[in-house]
Amino acid sequence: MKVREILVTSALPYANGHIHLGHLVEYIQTDIWVRAMKAQGHQVNYVCADDAHGTAIMLKAEANGVTPEAQIASVKASHEADFSKFLIDFDNYHSTHSEENKQFSELIYRRLNDAGHISTKDVEQLFDPEKQLFLADRFVKGTCPECDSPDQYGDNCEVCGTTYDATDLKDPHSTLSDATPVLKTSKHYFFDLPEFEQFLKDWTRSDSRLQTSVANKLQEWFDAGLASWDISRDAPYFGFQIPDTPSDEPDKYFYVWLDAPVGYMASFKNLCDKRIGTENALDFDRYWMQENEHKTEVYHFIGKDIVYFHALFWPAMLAGSEFRTPTGVFAHGFLMVNGEKMSKSRGTFIKAETYAEHLHPEYLRYYFASKLSDKVEDINLDLEDFMQKVNSDLVGKVVNIASRSAGFLVKKYDGMLSEVCVEPELLEDITKTGDEIAAAYENREFSRAMRLIMQCADKANEYIDGKKPWSLAKQEGTEQEVQDVCSVAINIFRQLMVYLAPVLPELTNNAKEFLNIDDLSFASRNEWLLGHKINKFKPLMQRIEEKDIIAMVEDSKASLTQAASLATSEDSTPVKQNQQPAPIETEQTDYIGIEDFAKVEMKVAHVLACNHVEGADKLLQFTLDVGEEKPRNVFSGIRKFYEPEQLLGKKVICVTNLAPRKMKFGVSEGMVLSTGNPKTGLTVVTLPDDCVVGDTLA
Ligand code: 2FM
Ligand code: ZN
Repeated sequence: MKVREILVTSALPYANGHIHLGHLVEYIQTDIWVRAMKAQGHQVNYVCADDAHGTAIMLKAEANGVTPEAQIASVKASHEADFSKFLIDFDNYHSTHSEENKQFSELIYRRLNDAGHISTKDVEQLFDPEKQLFLADRFVKGTCPECDSPDQYGDNCEVCGTTYDATDLKDPHSTLSDATPVLKTSKHYFFDLPEFEQFLKDWTRSDSRLQTSVANKLQEWFDAGLASWDISRDAPYFGFQIPDTPSDEPDKYFYVWLDAPVGYMASFKNLCDKRIGTENALDFDRYWMQENEHKTEVYHFIGKDIVYFHALFWPAMLAGSEFRTPTGVFAHGFLMVNGEKMSKSRGTFIKAETYAEHLHPEYLRYYFASKLSDKVEDINLDLEDFMQKVNSDLVGKVVNIASRSAGFLVKKYDGMLSEVCVEPELLEDITKTGDEIAAAYENREFSRAMRLIMQCADKANEYIDGKKPWSLAKQEGTEQEVQDVCSVAINIFRQLMVYLAPVLPELTNNAKEFLNIDDLSFASRNEWLLGHKINKFKPLMQRIEEKDIIAMVEDSKASLTQAASLATSEDSTPVKQNQQPAPIETEQTDYIGIEDFAKVEMKVAHVLACNHVEGADKLLQFTLDVGEEKPRNVFSGIRKFYEPEQLLGKKVICVTNLAPRKMKFGVSEGMVLSTGNPKTGLTVVTLPDDCVVGDTLA
């Protein structure tokens, strides 16, 4: 087998906020991939860093009364602590505010400049006269020029959805000082992206570097036309000063997104320096010099919202400065919790540390693995499903194989496994499945890998259920058989531990102790334990209890008053000038046709009566006029969230062609539409009063 030399990165988290479960999708995905590739014997290095520059971080430090350096140092420590709790095993974790990053950012910039890819242009921008700084769009609010809604941000209106320039806002004010911004002109530095158009068109379509949906999205951006990229920011700014600018002009800084991806190189360089003279020494040039492009592989794992930076600016910057470009960029979707965007008020905006106070991080690693694929799809953490899946798969299926067999072996045979394996075919079958599992890991088809592993666990449990060692143990003369059956089970358990090791490193480590072995490498999956002594079984994983989930949600509600601000930094809002990157849309494979949609008949209904239902603590009973001869009787499970009088007289939406449903309290002749989650809160969809009763929604 050829040992591949692979460098892997995850996106660098901003140094002004906590790690939350949304971030963890990516770090867990990357960490599993890295562990799986290492298990195959490849030489893999996984690096990351804090993304430490930008106005948002500078302002956060100011608000906290500390220097930006102190601010980023404390956030870095907290990020590293969170990552370690979730068993994210970086080979190096660095910072973009580092000497290496300064060197590489300057080098890349100088090479781009020397090659004629940098130009300057005067830009007119809103300026806060009190704070004395230029205002990024997120720091300006005003009245929407389109619909007159007040209090809208400088880039788009959340009410009517229009996008505009901050200078178009009516009555603008700075969110930093409340001052009225003034227009001010300053010189900006631009990277000439359009010059790279042909290179990028070829690059994005070659060598399966990108997922198909990502490449298609890029095509739309090419069609819309590329524009030069503004890479400079005026002082005051926390970042690196642009070198070689005229000495009689004000200082200019690199925009945070210029030096952020360079942070991947910088963190790797820092690792190479740490390894000098060790047996794992690494050669930086082998990974980053253009001429070595085919000797090594570089992969970036990122969220779908930052594809533009990684699949256009970054490869263009690298190619223009004579560095190699990434072998692949892998985008993933966003995290939803209980089917909705994470929400502070619902307690589903969950910080990594809050989660870890209540639940074991490996539960989440397994659940994410069971949901992740190579597609750019959003994944849903349904907390009920999470509990059931972990309890049934990991505790009920996998750990149970060991717990139901180890007792007999330890009690009756002093922990000794049989000298021979009585089910070689079963074990070989599971060994063979290992190849498919390894391929699924490599292709980032983790949900498929988890399904295959659970199928193997099912086979083991079926085998044990069929043999019933607990009944055999009560019979005379079956001692050998009991030992044999339990030994088969323990050997399969060992194989499952090999397969789950990338996802559950702590569990598999503890399993090593129980199995009394050192090796759970992938190559060892067909090494059977014969005549081997195992240790006493200690529970390897506890069931998730609903009370822990409830406590985590409650804690999240309480503790997240300021943390979500990390998502609204100016730095998370990408570039302007017709380059506004839209996130890659989730790949949708289960479309319905319009004819399917048309099958559902929805009508405007008038609530003539609304009442409690005796004996039903979840239901409200509606009498609805839907424009028919007789009103309809409809039950709806919203009692927890409404008093009947709140809905009386309202216009609501009723699905009128659902088959009538016979319930204990009467027949329900339709459904009232609401939004939200039946566990945490439902809102009945109400219509304006001038909607005509009986009209159909289309
Ligand atoms: O979107 C973000 O959170 C950025 N901090 C990611 C940077 S990734 C890389 F380019 F540095
Ligand atoms: Zn508007």
